[in-house]
Amino acid sequence: MIKERIDIKKIDGQLFEIKLVEPENSKPASFTHYLHNHTNGVSQFYKKDALAFVKEILVKEYPMNEITNKVAEEALQYLIFDLNKTVPFPAPEKPKFKFIDLFAGIGGFRMAFQNLEGKCVFTSEWDKYSKQTYKANFGEIPFGDITKEKTKSYIPNNFDVLCAGFPCQAFFIAEKTWWI
Ligand SMILES: C[S@@+](CC[C@H](N)C(=O)[O-])C[C@H]1O[C@@H](n2cnc3c(N)ncnc32)[C@H](O)[C@@H]1O
Repeated sequence: MIKERIDIKKIDGQLFEIKLVEPENSKPASFTHYLHNHTNGVSQFYKKDALAFVKEILVKEYPMNEITNKVAEEALQYLIFDLNKTVPFPAPEKPKFKFIDLFAGIGGFRMAFQNLEGKCVFTSEWDKYSKQTYKANFGEIPFGDITKEKTKSYIPNNFDVLCAGFPCQAFFIAEKTWWI
């Protein structure tokens, strides 16, 4: 089971660092996005993967039972109850606008937009530990690398604000600093 591996290989006399990365499994992200967007018309973007994810879990948990789509669908609906009460920073109850949270980090921007009565309908962040923190804060697992077409294909088409705290190192100008 390789999630990520870095190999050093010699090719034509030159050393290359080769990074092997498994394709990302988007189902857990779709599952949490589905649960948190079941009332706002966005869940359709996540439903197929969310159902497949629940089905996979049920098949593992109950190998002797036949897990039909109907059973998976019922389990999914059941999970929606009381969802907002289980996260420390829940979405506003009556949102005034929808936004997407790209390069989401641990959700600093999301907090600000939620405080303005916004509802986050898609989030992406590739760092493992930021994802864990984001899930603990908001109950949603971000999708991964936003440069990938697959990740972008999950972005819903009905949102009002695109929020992106993209990496800014390339815009910094290095200057001399004197410490006395
Ligand atoms: C400046 S931080 C954003 C902080 C965030 N706004 C917050 O409030 O916590 C940039 C983030 O972009 C993430 N990132 C960089 N490239 C990415 C990519 N291609 N896809 C997804 N996330 C990426 C980094 O892991 C980092 O957490």
